[in-house]
Amino acid sequence: MSKPETTTLESAYAGVADNYKGSDVDLHAIYRDMRKNSPVIAENFMARLGVPSIAGLDANRPTFTLFKYKDVMAVLRDATNFTSGFIAEGLGAFFDGLILTGMDGDEHRKARALLQPVFMPDVVNRWRDTKMDPIVRNEYILPMLPGKQADLMDFGLHFPIRLIYSLIGFPDNRPEQIQQYAAWALAILAGPQVDAEKAAMARKAAMEAAQSLYDGVKIAVEQVRKDGAQGDDLISRLLRAEYEGRQLDDHEVTTFVRSLLPAAGETTTRTFGSLMTLLLERPAVLERVRNDRSLVGKAIDEAVRFEPVATFKVRQAAKDLEIGGFQIPKGAMVQCIVSSANRDEDAYENSETFDIDRKPKPSFGFGFGPHMCIGQFIAKSELQVAVNAILDLLPNIRLDPSKPAPKIVGAQLRGPHSLPVIWD
Ligand code: HEM
Repeated sequence: MSKPETTTLESAYAGVADNYKGSDVDLHAIYRDMRKNSPVIAENFMARLGVPSIAGLDANRPTFTLFKYKDVMAVLRDATNFTSGFIAEGLGAFFDGLILTGMDGDEHRKARALLQPVFMPDVVNRWRDTKMDPIVRNEYILPMLPGKQADLMDFGLHFPIRLIYSLIGFPDNRPEQIQQYAAWALAILAGPQVDAEKAAMARKAAMEAAQSLYDGVKIAVEQVRKDGAQGDDLISRLLRAEYEGRQLDDHEVTTFVRSLLPAAGETTTRTFGSLMTLLLERPAVLERVRNDRSLVGKAIDEAVRFEPVATFKVRQAAKDLEIGGFQIPKGAMVQCIVSSANRDEDAYENSETFDIDRKPKPSFGFGFGPHMCIGQFIAKSELQVAVNAILDLLPNIRLDPSKPAPKIVGAQLRGPHSLPVIWD
């Protein structure tokens, strides 16, 4: 197995944070203005902010950007007219296999139908009790207890990868392997770069990381199949999954599992950071949540609306279409600004207030429509487990007044970089 030995989890995370930071601007103020004055523009808005597209967006294609809830919903729900196949083109080499985000039509529908049962709450709730809860409490929160202070992002950076690693079915006693896999997953995310000089190097590192991950996962998949694939772990469940008489081969399971490491780590890390920041900044809300744990789920949903980690999603028009009075030609790219749509004043009352008592209404933090996050129940369970363990075990946790207050930043992949807290 080839290993880029120098890549640590921390350095890879810093690389991704840097890559997707974009301009240092008040994004929500800009979006408010765009919703009011230019709800649709014939321009690549993210390029204006200096953000590379994860999907390797081709700069030469005409691009439109949408800021309103109704327009974003219309695009994300309609995967026939607004397709995702270009994602596979942009990152071709990583997409040799079962990669849902880059699939369209029947191919995507069938793959989702096959995979979906493995990600439903009945399975996930068992994992929550047997794996997530004990790992978070025993390996992370309890050891923090005597220190009386911490940067919660140190925990936030590690636990999602540790958990998905365990759910996948990798051995629990190989901490160095977990670190390595997490760093590789981040190196893949750091692949697309704006700066041409950095781009070639980052692409090479991403390709090597993708290959190393593939090799590691493939060995595990082959072993599980050899052992009969009867376990409760994700690999066993994927090997047993069946739809219309079709099952997955080792290559498909390997490429799908490999795609989960970048999909499940960074996203959950940053969502955790934003959620805890929003709660810790509002001690009265935090106190309510501490005393009534049925509010944890509402706080998660509201954080995902208020500060979605993936701030935009891109689709490609499959034919000539019209949105908000703009003619969108076939082949054009359509950027949906999720962070803006999620705060659209026409869709939500007091849309710019973090309000955990809000009436449930779909937002786009986990996407919407056929590509909506397949791992959302896993992510929400992990976040539930993390918040509950923190509130149970770290008495009177609060922001550390001697350190700079946390700030949710980033034009893409948004979240805080540090989150200093103390407890009694
Ligand atoms: C808080 C954490 C997470 C957030 C905010 C998040 C967000 C998203 C979003 C916005 C999409 C839609 C992509 C699109 O429309 O093109 C998506 C898709 C996906 N997510 Fe997540 N995700 C999270 C956690 C996870 C986890 C834990 C897993 C796996 C265990 C996962 C696996 C996937 C996969 C496989 C897809 C592709 C689905 C498809 O294209 O059909 N995600 N996620």
